[in-house]
Amino acid sequence: MRKPIIAGNWKMHKTRDEALQFIFSVNVKVPNKTYVETVVCPPAPILRDLVKRQGDHLRIGAQTMHEESEGAFTGEVSAALLENIGVDYTIIGHSERREHFNETDQSVNKKIHQALRYEIIPIVCVGESLEIREQNETDAYVSAQVKKALHNLSETQVKNLVIAYEPIWAIGTGKTATPEQAEETIKTIRRVITTLYSPAVGDAIRILYGGSVKPGNIDDLMAQPDIDGALVGGASLNAQDFLTLVEAAKNAS
Ligand code: PGA
Repeated sequence: MRKPIIAGNWKMHKTRDEALQFIFSVNVKVPNKTYVETVVCPPAPILRDLVKRQGDHLRIGAQTMHEESEGAFTGEVSAALLENIGVDYTIIGHSERREHFNETDQSVNKKIHQALRYEIIPIVCVGESLEIREQNETDAYVSAQVKKALHNLSETQVKNLVIAYEPIWAIGTGKTATPEQAEETIKTIRRVITTLYSPAVGDAIRILYGGSVKPGNIDDLMAQPDIDGALVGGASLNAQDFLTLVEAAKNAS
């Protein structure tokens, strides 16, 4: 059995005060982490504030990190620092990072290696544009992204990371992939990992769906056999909606 995960990606939203208000209203209500992993990924400057108040069952993640250990990289954050302040997860390769901040399949791969070196769990994002979907190239495109992301990772390392399938056309648009579309591509990703590693790894790795997930569609998504949770943008900003998503994931497991 794969334990479900709900991860909230706040992107560039919320001030420190708003974030603290959120954390105080959710940290006592988050279900037991034995049954569901609940993660919030705030902007970097308030990571430590949230880690200090995460409580027993909520965990905190970064939205990105740099692939080098330290150096002259103005504005960037290292995995060593994330580990040092108690961050447990990091999103890597979000499509917005790939589009606006020049992240490539190669830098995504380096970042995954670096995160795992510091025992931070990567949530690795892959997903196709509308153009690629309309050309019926989704499977080939996403499979290639997964292979490049996992380059030179061992079986044990891969078992410890999380993949998020996020079709770009569904992010922040209100257009969710149908549960069947999400399931089909996620099943393809699982098959790629089974072929690259082993059936045991393919069976163990958690694969999330992301793209306009909200309380109204989470149950149908979670009902799909290969979908292990969600990476959520907009709906994770509201404490009540976020808790509803976490409860739905827990109940589906
Ligand atoms: P959305 O964002 O839920 O607002 O579509 C998802 C994401 O970007 O991870």
